[in-house]
Amino acid sequence: MQRHKWIYSVIAAAVFIPFAALAASSISEGERLGRPCAGCHAGNGYAPGEYIARIGGQNAQYMTKVMTEYATAKRPGSVEMSIIAKGYSEADMAAISEYYAAKKWANSTNRIDPKKAAAGLKLAKDNGCFDCHGEKGQGVESTPRIGGQNAGYMAEALKRYKAGQIVSEEMAVVKDMTDSQLESLAQYFSGIRK
Ligand code: HEC
Ligand code: HEC
Repeated sequence: MQRHKWIYSVIAAAVFIPFAALAASSISEGERLGRPCAGCHAGNGYAPGEYIARIGGQNAQYMTKVMTEYATAKRPGSVEMSIIAKGYSEADMAAISEYYAAKKWANSTNRIDPKKAAAGLKLAKDNGCFDCHGEKGQGVESTPRIGGQNAGYMAEALKRYKAGQIVSEEMAVVKDMTDSQLESLAQYFSGIRK
């Protein structure tokens, strides 16, 4: 009798402890699913590299859209993102986006060329970038934040809009710009410290 009781409690512990451990942790679905992202985008999504986008504090709606497009190859991007995005359902991507979007934004630490940034500011004023992206480039609803984003990533993205590789009616404004103008715009917006 005693012996049986002992066995039952071992079985009960084996079955219930994992559930108890899960219930006790406060990790959200988005955080759990989003862990592999930190390998490239860094903790909190504050990627220090120039060519990787910062995603901590980026708009959730925009991120979900972009991830879905990478997954369906509608959006050409790095090989990494196309492969990774395929592993998640749309609900997963929304949960991960919510997790990173809830982080406080932290500005890029890239070095900025002040001459190019000054030229970029003039281009930005002349071409209405602030009308859609906000006066500090902070983003509005589904329009991404670009103020304080990494410069190399933004320059690449702008070239893709220009070439029509990423289709966006709103971004048609860059169609007639030179690569050097696009790099200046990226330098300016990356250097915003607000
Ligand atoms: C192996 C490295 C790697 C991993 C892992 C990775 N990414 Fe990325 N990600 C990149 C690179 C590089 C870019 C820039 C892509 C480009 O140039 O198209 C990027 C771009 C993005 C963008 C576009 C940002 C923007 O402003 O448009 C989003 C959103 C994103 N990643 C989310 C994620 C999420 C969420 C995960 C985890 C599920 C993840 N990434 C995992 C390398 C990675
Ligand atoms: C009419 C509104 C509008 C205007 C004007 C506009 N943008 Fe955008 N921009 C958008 C939208 C919407 C997106 C997201 C498009 C998509 O889904 O890829 C975007 C995307 C971007 C991105 C990619 C961000 C990322 O994280 O991937 C950059 C960089 C950017 N814009 C810079 C600029 C610059 C620089 C200007 C001025 C020359 C400008 N935009 C003008 C609406 C606008």
